[in-house]
Amino acid sequence: MNYVEAANAPLRKTGHIKLYGPEGFAGMRKAGQLTAQALDAVADMVAPGVTTDAIDRLIYEFAMDHGAYPATLMYRGYRFSVCTSVNHVVCHGMPNARPLREGDIVNVDVTLVLDGWYGDSSRMYPVGAIPRRAERLLEVTYDAMMLGIAAIRPGGHVGDIGAAIQDFVEPQHMSVVRDFCGHGVGQVFHDEPNIVHVGRRGEGPKLVPGMIFTVEPMINLGRPHVKVLSDGWTAVTRDRSLSAQFEHAVGVTETGVEIFTLSPKGYHQPPYISA
Ligand code: MF3
Ligand code: CO
Ligand code: CO
Repeated sequence: MNYVEAANAPLRKTGHIKLYGPEGFAGMRKAGQLTAQALDAVADMVAPGVTTDAIDRLIYEFAMDHGAYPATLMYRGYRFSVCTSVNHVVCHGMPNARPLREGDIVNVDVTLVLDGWYGDSSRMYPVGAIPRRAERLLEVTYDAMMLGIAAIRPGGHVGDIGAAIQDFVEPQHMSVVRDFCGHGVGQVFHDEPNIVHVGRRGEGPKLVPGMIFTVEPMINLGRPHVKVLSDGWTAVTRDRSLSAQFEHAVGVTETGVEIFTLSPKGYHQPPYISA
């Protein structure tokens, strides 16, 4: 297999979902905890005047100091250690020199590779005081992710996750992004299955102990439609409405689900105050 084929391999639909044993779960626990620790450090630094470039440098240094590598760095031509998606940016925003302003909301998405295992997680950070509608969006998005995760059990189906999210979000007059989804993760960054954040109960692949994937719903205050800017990465809402996202990496267990990327500091959702 040449390099280009290898890069595209995870996108090829083979219908095969990897199952991981106890060593895999142990590896994901370590990588997931390191990523969560990095996201905790971001909470302690985000404030008006801070740039997303500074967040990118923090994560790069954090990775180097802990024997890890940021998976996004040089991934398919991406050149940063994090994605930083501000306000109407849905995902894959690139760090830059613009200082964050009071009232902004920013998603920081970090994937640290530790001993070959990919810990993929993101959180929303309010910058100072934010408008009430932005606060509501962050609450609904966090709850949507956790409801999706709570729907995971062995013998269930991938569609149960999207159904739980969609049925919670849409009655609140917010929308679920269709163009990006969660994904299998483990010893590769993006693997099967796709975890779509809308759907119907009982549909899609069956959930089996040993599966490892992300749940990472993107929720918009307006319409669900997205466009990618000419930089080839930055995805924004077409109607320029605010967008939010949270992400955890999880594993299906014999009895339910394990979350690998829980915050060691108890910084689960904003405002981030130590538990
Ligand atoms: N971490 C993102 C995810 O949740 C992927 C970012 S890929 C990048 O899947 F190239 F945009 F960084
Ligand atoms: Co992900
Ligand atoms: Co991510």
